[in-house]
Amino acid sequence: MGGRPAATYPRAPRAGDRLLVAGARGNPPVLSIPNSALAGGRGRVVLLYANRDESSVVLRDELRTLAEGHPHRLLVLHWLESLQGLPTVDRLAAVLAPYTGREAFVCGPEPLMDAVEQALRSLGAPGDRIHRERFFSLGADDFDTTTVPRGTAAGDGGTAEVELDGETHTVAWPPATPLLDVLLAAGVDAPFSCREGACSACTCRVVAGEVKMLRNDVLDDQDITEGYVLACQALPLTDRVEITYS
Ligand code: FES
Repeated sequence: MGGRPAATYPRAPRAGDRLLVAGARGNPPVLSIPNSALAGGRGRVVLLYANRDESSVVLRDELRTLAEGHPHRLLVLHWLESLQGLPTVDRLAAVLAPYTGREAFVCGPEPLMDAVEQALRSLGAPGDRIHRERFFSLGADDFDTTTVPRGTAAGDGGTAEVELDGETHTVAWPPATPLLDVLLAAGVDAPFSCREGACSACTCRVVAGEVKMLRNDVLDDQDITEGYVLACQALPLTDRVEITYS
């Protein structure tokens, strides 16, 4: 899978060239990020997509189709831990070296983002050219980290009333946006770590209303019966949902 850059990807970056790095076991915007980059400019895009093994690569066919549709602008490189080992700083630096002149956008688990940032910095990339994506549900400009997630316009979805650290926050909650994304976009300092439904750092409890989870690797049936949910995976099923982190 993947491969080293061909002659159509010279090392000297052009304006608008971008390096994207996504690490996944959950639901990162693996398609929307390159799609947005391709649609929003004329630069070339390299996507390094890190997964545990080949069976973990979601949207593989879609990415291949996207790359085939933009043969001179999009290159998808796959990093499989089963073959290449963990993406350490040194290993990443070796792979990313040809692309360090590009503006870089990284999303995925925190350790991966740390390693990519360190790797790029070790290659001389200035910090202001490295962007860590906080949101997995991205807006019209996927590279604007201040963008509120898609669908937060009034009338699109319901409302979440969230109690956290003694404060109550009321935020619009679009039906396809995880609660954590909504809260972070609203400036609420909600806890999280993996953003993949695998660590429980974002656990909160539904007090009223209903939600569903896209993924859940940590909460058991008893937890769910008691109303606990993972904010990073929670989508609303009712117009109004009350949540508490206490
Ligand atoms: S942040 Fe890890 S399960 Fe939500």
